[in-house]
Amino acid sequence: MYAWLFQGVSVWGRLWEVSLSIPTGVTAVLGANGSGKTTLLKLAARLLKPDKGLVIGPRRVGAALQNPYLGFLGPTVAEDLARTAGGRGAALSLLREAGLEYAAERSPFTLSMGEARILSVLMAVSWQPEAVVIDEPTSGLDVSGRRWLARVIAGLDTPVLIAGHDLDFAAAVADWAVVLGEGRVRAEGYMDTILETISRRPDLGLEPGPAVKAALERGLDPRCTARCVYGVGR
Ligand SMILES: Nc1ncnc2c1ncn2[C@@H]1O[C@H](COP(=O)(O)OP(=O)(O)OP(=O)(O)O)[C@@H](O)[C@H]1O
Ligand SMILES: [Mg+2]
Repeated sequence: MYAWLFQGVSVWGRLWEVSLSIPTGVTAVLGANGSGKTTLLKLAARLLKPDKGLVIGPRRVGAALQNPYLGFLGPTVAEDLARTAGGRGAALSLLREAGLEYAAERSPFTLSMGEARILSVLMAVSWQPEAVVIDEPTSGLDVSGRRWLARVIAGLDTPVLIAGHDLDFAAAVADWAVVLGEGRVRAEGYMDTILETISRRPDLGLEPGPAVKAALERGLDPRCTARCVYGVGR
């Protein structure tokens, strides 16, 4: 069962005839800077049209962008979230659960990077989308923010695409992974397999995070270890 199918997709001369089947569940898109992760997420969220090829997937996609401030309108945090959550009451309750209620009446543009990331994720998931994409989910988030986000992602029953450089977080939340490089798909498969591939193939330019690295060195299950770190179960 697939959430997205990419067929021979090219854009800007930077992604070259990418063909991919992305399963339902949570998928992590990995790769070096400029490898095309954000581009792939924008294509999946229909924020971008391919120059060539076809993207087949859900229509209503909630998107938390790499730069979270780009999704805000204002004038206040509560009003921005009320637009997606279906009203002020729902917005305030979501802000309370996320520990962000103290900022409800402020401009979203005054939020710190971590606070802005939390608001952008709440906006992406709160309008009952058919799928969710979250770019650089942990960028700017402290450890409790990362744990909160891992729980949010684990609780979603839609397909989810995340992109980024935090391999411990990806190992904790994603079942499937796609590695991009030089405009192409360099590896794809179950997260367990990809974590082993990454540690065997320095040419992919990816470093396992400390939890995954320690688990692999001790012969432990890296995904189980990463899930423990982020407090999410199977
Ligand atoms: N509008 C555009 N026109 C032309 N090239 C672009 C455009 N936007 C992005 N690119 C290029 O496409 C490539 C992939 O960019 P993308 O933002 O998808 O990378 P990324 O993997 O998300 O990188 P990072 O890890 O830095 O976020 C980069 O070389 C980038 O410069
Ligand atoms: Mg990016």
